[in-house]
Amino acid sequence: MSKKLSFHKLADHPNELSWAENGIAVAELKGKKICLGRFKDEIFAFAYKCPHAGGIMADGYIDALGNVVCPLHRYKFSLQNGRNVSGEGYYLKHWPVEIREEGVFVGMEEGGFWNIFQ
Ligand code: FES
Repeated sequence: MSKKLSFHKLADHPNELSWAENGIAVAELKGKKICLGRFKDEIFAFAYKCPHAGGIMADGYIDALGNVVCPLHRYKFSLQNGRNVSGEGYYLKHWPVEIREEGVFVGMEEGGFWNIFQ
């Protein structure tokens, strides 16, 4: 079954997002928080909480290889695909980001929005 994505606008421009010094911004979509991470002029969207034990990913950092590192136990996840590259077997939910003329958009599966926070 193919998954249909619907794109939601987060900001008019990437600079309008509230970037912290660690290159991570928190945005709200339908009242829920997600993280955005900047790496090499690209923007990636991923879950606000770590799949391991709920660490706040926005308080972590992005390493030189483009992984986001959880502040709690330092598990690492690829910004590209959510893979737990430090090998603990978890998976960080992530979403495609599109920078369009009209702004920054994040694609989410239709109807699946609420499942991502479980
Ligand atoms: S809560 Fe993120 S690594 Fe444990």
